[in-house]
Amino acid sequence: MQTDPRILDNAAILTTNRISKIYRTGFWLNKTSQSLKNCSLEVMPGETFGLLGPNGAGKTTMLKILLGIIRKSAGQATLLGKPIGDRQTREKIGYLPENAYFYDYLTAWEFLDFTGSLFQIPKKRRHKRINTLLDTVGLAKEIAKKRQMRKYSKGMLQRVGMAQALINDPDLVFLDEPMSGLDPLGRFQVREIILSLKEQGKTIFFNSHILADVEQICDRLAILSKGEIICTGTLSELLGTEDRYQAIVRGGDQTQLKKWLPDLQLREGKWHGHLVGDQQAFLASLNLMGAKLMDLKLARPTLEDFFIEQIRSHDPNAHIEENLQAIA
Ligand SMILES: Nc1ncnc2c1ncn2[C@@H]1O[C@H](COP(=O)(O)OP(=O)(O)OP(=O)(O)O)[C@@H](O)[C@H]1O
Ligand SMILES: [Mg+2]
Repeated sequence: MQTDPRILDNAAILTTNRISKIYRTGFWLNKTSQSLKNCSLEVMPGETFGLLGPNGAGKTTMLKILLGIIRKSAGQATLLGKPIGDRQTREKIGYLPENAYFYDYLTAWEFLDFTGSLFQIPKKRRHKRINTLLDTVGLAKEIAKKRQMRKYSKGMLQRVGMAQALINDPDLVFLDEPMSGLDPLGRFQVREIILSLKEQGKTIFFNSHILADVEQICDRLAILSKGEIICTGTLSELLGTEDRYQAIVRGGDQTQLKKWLPDLQLREGKWHGHLVGDQQAFLASLNLMGAKLMDLKLARPTLEDFFIEQIRSHDPNAHIEENLQAIA
């Protein structure tokens, strides 16, 4: 299929235009399941872009299509101004897979040396690069050289994965769930690495469930739900800049309370929700509803609130609680 010339004119480093993916499934491959539906995105050079969505939304599928690992069923996409799959473009791209597989019996140094040789980086330059990368990702050289990777913690392996993704000094880096499975310190360190890449002018495209991290590092984001992009924008475009009141009440009728607090949730015997409407009128109506106010405070909308609202309105049957557990 010919690429739409308008896409190639664009200054964006990554574009997708109505990308769809239909997987063939079942023993005879006679069933189909649609994982992406008409997804259009644009990422500008130097941006840190987050693709968010619940489990099974299609985030990894999108990444794999962009990297040429699987084929799209329809639509068009470009990376660095060229249609996806272009050989020269691949040399300027880095990728950290979701469940990176490492050679257990190699040391990190041997593994990175091997990856660097696949890019045909000359030995001297390769070794210099590995030393720099070990510093960047905070992995001790002594350990990287001597210890086999089967003896590494999850956090250390994730750092090796980041170093591997950067071995060819890419302009555009794809990270699939870079913080997943890491403890708070590990997540902090990965965030720092991403921010330092951003300072170097790299473009980062990453998938994540961990909304607190996304909030701290993303310039722009898109939310995928059941294969569809349901919103895209900067954090302030999506969350707005206005504060909202958060109320906690005890007792009262759920249906009536929901008119004031549409995102009502019962936690430890109390109702929690964000107030919609006039604060004074709400306070006056509490008595009539048989409810008692426990707390009312100003709360900035968080990405998590926004995410849940968006996913619920697009897919009322989404297993929000399950996904939230995955986030925690
Ligand atoms: N090889 C495949 N064959 C058939 N269906 C697939 C295949 N890979 C993924 N899918 C389906 O496509 C949908 C999207 O999967 P994908 O892995 O892209 O989701 P995800 O958003 O990355 O989820 P997670 O957050 O769990 O990593 C899911 O319903 C999944 O079951
Ligand atoms: Mg995934």
